[in-house]
Amino acid sequence: MAQRKVIVVGGGLAGLMTTMKLAEAGVKVQLFSLVPVKRSHSVCAQGGINGAVNLRGEGDSPYLHFEDTITGGDFLNHQPPVMRMAERAPAIIYLLDRMGVPFNRTAEGVLSFRRFGGTLKHRTAYAGATTGQQLLYALDEQVRRYEASHDVEKFEGWSFIGLVKDSKGVCKGIVAQDLRSMKVESFAADAVVICSGGNGVIFGRSTNSIINTGEPVSVCYQEGAVYGNPEMVQIHPTAIPGDDKCRLISESVRGEGGRLWVPRDVQDKRKPAEIPEKDRYYFCEELDPTYGNLLSRDLVSFIIYCICRTGRGVGGGQQVYLDIGHLHREKGWSRELINDKLGGVLEIYEKFMREDPIDNPMRIYPAVHYTMGGLWVDYEKGTDGATLDVNSPRNQMTSVPGLFAAGECEYQYHGANRLGANALLSCLTGGELAALGVQAYLSKGLEGGFEDVPTTLLDEACSRRQSEYEFYRQSHGSENPYRLLAELQDTMWHYCGIWRLQKELVGAQSKLDELKVRANQCALIDEGHWSNQVVPFTRSLHHMIEMSKAIVGGAILRDESRGAHFKLDTPDRDDSHWLKTTKATWSESGPEFDLSERIECNVIAPRPRKYKINQNKVVKEIMGADFFEKAGLKEIQEPSAVGS
Ligand code: FUM
Repeated sequence: MAQRKVIVVGGGLAGLMTTMKLAEAGVKVQLFSLVPVKRSHSVCAQGGINGAVNLRGEGDSPYLHFEDTITGGDFLNHQPPVMRMAERAPAIIYLLDRMGVPFNRTAEGVLSFRRFGGTLKHRTAYAGATTGQQLLYALDEQVRRYEASHDVEKFEGWSFIGLVKDSKGVCKGIVAQDLRSMKVESFAADAVVICSGGNGVIFGRSTNSIINTGEPVSVCYQEGAVYGNPEMVQIHPTAIPGDDKCRLISESVRGEGGRLWVPRDVQDKRKPAEIPEKDRYYFCEELDPTYGNLLSRDLVSFIIYCICRTGRGVGGGQQVYLDIGHLHREKGWSRELINDKLGGVLEIYEKFMREDPIDNPMRIYPAVHYTMGGLWVDYEKGTDGATLDVNSPRNQMTSVPGLFAAGECEYQYHGANRLGANALLSCLTGGELAALGVQAYLSKGLEGGFEDVPTTLLDEACSRRQSEYEFYRQSHGSENPYRLLAELQDTMWHYCGIWRLQKELVGAQSKLDELKVRANQCALIDEGHWSNQVVPFTRSLHHMIEMSKAIVGGAILRDESRGAHFKLDTPDRDDSHWLKTTKATWSESGPEFDLSERIECNVIAPRPRKYKINQNKVVKEIMGADFFEKAGLKEIQEPSAVGS
C-alpha cells in the first residue's frame, strides 16, 4: 500500500507529539504552523507537568491524580479519557527525561516535584519556570530528525483556513494560506489533526500569545465540527498586565510558598516591605486555611476580582501583592535557590515591571489563561470499562470523520476547570492518543488514499477560500477591524469573564450580532499581495466573533455555576440538570445547542467541592454580608450543600 499522509495543524506540544508518533509509525506528516514551531504558545508554559510519580512517598498515585482532575473539573469531564491521561503521566515524564529535558532535580539527583493548585501532593515536574520551552525544544529536536529523513515536511508561516471534505462529509485535507506570498492552496491528506491551542485573544486580557485567536477551531466549527463546552474559560489569578498581552506569573510561585495579600487598611501608604504581618490581609489563607494560596484558580481569581472591585486593591486599585520575599528573609532561601526554582518567571517580572520581585512583592491581576472548551472529540472505552481502548479510531476524532484534534483546541480532559500543570500533560497524552487513533482510522476501512482525492474537490475548497480572501482584501467599508477587536475583547472580558450575570450575557449576545455585521464592512488599508497582515487579521476577527457567539450562548444556556463558569444569578452547581456537555453546532444565525450528552461518571460519583469556601463566602466576606439582598440576587448555598 502507498505511504499514508496526515496533516497536522499546529506545532506546539500536541502537534509535535502527534507528528513524532505518526512519523515513528511510518506515516508521512505535513505540519502546518502559523509561526516557527519553536514559537508556538507551549513555549510560554512555565510551572510544570503533572505526573503521580510519588518520589516523595506521599502516597500519591495516578488514581489520586485522576480524582483531583475530575474534582477540579467539577465533574464535567468524561472520566475514561482522564483516567488514561493520569495513568500515562509518569511514563510521559520519564520519556521527556530520557529525551534530555533539563528537569530540576533534588540533591540526591532524582526528579524534583513541586506543589500546584487543586492538590495537596507534590506532583509537578518542572524545569525552573520555563518548563514549556524545555519540553517544546526537546520534541522539536525529535521531529527535526524525521524532517531530515523527509518523513515530515514543515510549513511554517502558513495559516489554516479551511477543510477539504468529500460528498460524505469525510475530511480529506485542508486549505491553507502562505502568509508571505498570500498564495491559497489546498492539500490532500488521509486524515487531519488539529492541534492549534486556545482562544484567549478573544478576551484581550489574556496570558495567551497573540497567535491564540482560536481561528482554526472556529474554521472547523463553521465547517460542521461540534464545539464542546464553549463557555468554559479559565482565568488565571496571577498575571502582569501589558499593552500587547498579559504575562503569566506562574502558579508555581505560590506552589513554592508565594503569598497573596493586600494591606488591611486601604489608606495604608507605606511601602509593602514596611507593612508588618499584622497589617496584611492574606485573604486566601484566611478564607481557606487548608488550601490557602493554592485554592483552585477560579476561586483565587474571583477573590482577587472582589478585592479590587471593592477598592481594596493596590497599584491604582487593580492589583494585589504576590509575595516571595519571606522565602529569602525568613526561610533563609538564597537568591540562587529561588532562581533555580523560579528563574524564568522572576526574570519576566523584572523585565516588564522593572522591579526586583524578591525585594518587592509582585503586583498581579487575573487574566484569561486557558480554553477548556474546544472541538468535541470522541473516545472508546476498553474492555476493563474504566480506561480506553487505545486502538480505537474513535479516540480524539471530532464529529467530522477523518478530522482529529488534540491539545488545548479540544474539550475533553479538563471539564469545567483545568488543574495547573495538567495542560502540558494533556497535550502530550492527547497527541499520543490522536496518533494512535489516526493509525487505527487509516488501517480500518478508509476508502482510497490521499492521492485519490479528486482534483475538483481540492480546487473547489481552494477557490471558496480564495474568494473569501478577495472579499476581505477588497473590502471598502468604514469600520476599523482593530477597533472592532478591542470592542469584542471588552465585551467578552467584562460580560463573559469572572463575573457573569444573565442579563449582561444577553446584552453581550446582541453586541456580538452587531459586531458580526460591522466586521463585514471594514476599511482595509492594504490590498497588497505580499505579507498582507490586515486581511488575515480581519478574517481571524470574523472567526473570533463566530466563536464568541458560541461561548456567550453556552454561558447563557448553562443556568448553573460549575468550575470556571460562575453566574451570580444561578450560583449553585446543578447536577440533576447540568451533568452534560454543551455541544454547539454552527449556523449562520447563531449557535444551535444539543444538550443530550450526559457526562460519563463511571468511576467517581459527583460530590461537593473540597474547599472550605465558595463564591458565596467570598462575596459576603469581601463585598459585604448584604450584597445579595441589595443586588436582588439569590444567595449561594453553603459548600456542604453544593452539588448535593
Ligand atoms: O501557573 C502556571 O505555571 C501555569 C501552568 C498551567 O496553566 O498549567
